Amino acid sequence: MANWETVEVTTDLLICGGGMAAAGAAVEAAYWAQKNGLQVTLVDKAAFDRSGAVAMGLSAINEYIGYGAGDNTLEDYVNYVKQDLMGIARDDLVYNIARHVDSSVHLFEKWGLPIWTDENGKYVREGRWQIMINGESYKVIVAEAAKNAMTEGGFDIIERVFIVGPIMDGDRVAGAYGFSTREDKFYVFRAKAVCAMMGGAVHVFRPRSVGEGLGRSWYPPFNSGSTAFFTIVAGAEMTCQEIRFIPVRFKDAYGPVGAWFLLFKSRATSATGGEYMVERKEELQNWAPYGLVKPIPANLRNYLGMLDVDEGLGPLYMETAEAIQNLAEAYKDDPKAFKKKMKTLEAEAWEDFLDMTVSQAILWAANNIYPEQSRSEIAACEPYFIGSHSGGSGAWVSGPEDLETPYKWGYGNMCTVQGLFSAGDGVGASSHKFSSGSHAEGRFAGKEAIRFILDNNNLPEVGDVEALKATALGPLDRFEEFKDFTTDPEINPNYLRPMSFMFRLQKIMDEYAGGVVSAFKTSKSLLERGLELLAMLAEDAEKLAAEDSYELERCWENVHRMCQAEAHVRTILFREETRWPGYYFRADTPTMDEENWKCFVNCTYKDGEWTFEKKDVVDLIG
Ligand code: FAD
Ligand code: ADX
Repeated sequence: MANWETVEVTTDLLICGGGMAAAGAAVEAAYWAQKNGLQVTLVDKAAFDRSGAVAMGLSAINEYIGYGAGDNTLEDYVNYVKQDLMGIARDDLVYNIARHVDSSVHLFEKWGLPIWTDENGKYVREGRWQIMINGESYKVIVAEAAKNAMTEGGFDIIERVFIVGPIMDGDRVAGAYGFSTREDKFYVFRAKAVCAMMGGAVHVFRPRSVGEGLGRSWYPPFNSGSTAFFTIVAGAEMTCQEIRFIPVRFKDAYGPVGAWFLLFKSRATSATGGEYMVERKEELQNWAPYGLVKPIPANLRNYLGMLDVDEGLGPLYMETAEAIQNLAEAYKDDPKAFKKKMKTLEAEAWEDFLDMTVSQAILWAANNIYPEQSRSEIAACEPYFIGSHSGGSGAWVSGPEDLETPYKWGYGNMCTVQGLFSAGDGVGASSHKFSSGSHAEGRFAGKEAIRFILDNNNLPEVGDVEALKATALGPLDRFEEFKDFTTDPEINPNYLRPMSFMFRLQKIMDEYAGGVVSAFKTSKSLLERGLELLAMLAEDAEKLAAEDSYELERCWENVHRMCQAEAHVRTILFREETRWPGYYFRADTPTMDEENWKCFVNCTYKDGEWTFEKKDVVDLIG
């Protein structure tokens, strides 16, 4: 076996991940742990300051209720989220996040995040629920606060350690194992409770950007389905695994559209200038009642654009020039004021990208695009798994103790596995939490995890550490053993390398599970064939080989992706209807079936078998 040192870490609460949810969990857990003489350890595969989806920065905080100021009610938010997810969301979870989210935002501001304010000192709204920020350093600020809280308690933050999977002691989580991506060290973490907060998944489907553009995607390439893998392998019940997210974004560099649609009130049009949201309004009747609410659900907005593309009316465009002109219109009679307004709008347009998607600004510059002069191409991205945004996949967690909810079996945000907690992208059926809601949910889960520890204050057993090490480092051994069998280590009958493994996974998903190449359409027979191919891929996963620790990380990332892929394919297959056209379309069951399928689909993986069941959607809010 590879001659790597084994580092054993014993703690009380282990937080896996260092994104928005984990930062929230760290702040809260550090406080309660200190009060109760407990230990907390946070492990991130990257550098905490710039890891996860917020690494590049953001230009808006997408969930801010303004509850205290009377802007909105919590009930309004719950209804909005459920409508956007075509009726499928957990009221208790969404409500719980909504009631805590404003306090996370106020903390961000206190910690130094610049939030736009108007002349009366009120936050500038992008849309009804979103507020504008100067967010290039958003993640650094949030991580700094978490680091301070952890340092104050004397707790460790371990960076650049990749978590491979959970360690179980019967039906209770006992910790996690992983390895350093910089040093030859294998890590075993022993803990009384674990927070799995390692984000969602990208590159499960073949991306639009291949070849020289590989790695460019809307969702950050660092998140590869580790939370889903961790919870699934731990035996946790999962929900909404079919609800992928497909954002429509500025084409090729994936710049955000929210500010254009909501703040600049821009229109999206086809190549011939038709506005699909207006011209295809009738189509929305087919998806009633959800198609008839405002705002129209994200997947249906996508779908109307896709219908244009299907009819050869693409490319689609964001009418940036028109939107800027419209906003400046009111200043037309005063040339000086008009010029000033135009300059401000141009600056805001560029800043939107510079705050969160620098590459889009570069692409605009490279393509001579002046947003105030010409429209700019938009397109539907490849599918992602991001339960905190407008997708819905994640673990099925217990509702909060103080709410009347049928979904309650233990501590708030605990999975169906004892001692295993999650938040953010890791928790399903509670979409639209975004950065702020993920942080708030992380805080809640962190506090609940400490409560669990106080009631279950014994260390579970971690079992055979050497066996875990052999599994985690297996790809290194395989490479060493067989690398000289051929003259080119790339090509070898005894192993495959993670890059080619990933391409194979992506091809299967793209062609059989409704990716870009199949225009987001699939069917029973395609899914079944996809499962056959995934089974063969799983056999070959045993043969993954890694030359060094970087490649070892790539191996495990792809095993995690494959697990997310299988849960997704199986769940789409189980749900015999089409509920989220614009995310995926099951061509053999092309309509929505409220009578039979207005329900959650939950799945569990145990002893090598998947089981599926329907769970009722219970309305808790009128
Ligand atoms: P993340 O914040 O992504 O954190 C995941 C963490 O897990 C990272 O630290 C990562 O390094 C770590 N990790 C992953 N795998 C492993 C492993 N195996 N071992 C150890 N650590 C691991 N929200 C807004 O409010 N406003 C916006 O404008 C906005 N724009 C967005 C734009 C994009 C492109 C994306 C992708 C998201 C955007 N969001 C926005 C949503 C927001 O970023 C997410 O809701 C939020 O980051 C989710 O938090 P999380 O903690 O679940 O995941
Ligand atoms: S972001 O994650 O990159 O910021 P995006 O820019 O699409 O996402 O959207 C930000 C917010 O605006 C999200 O809350 C999204 O649901 C909302 N949004 C985007 N476009 C529209 C639209 N056309 N109508 C209503 N809400 C929208």
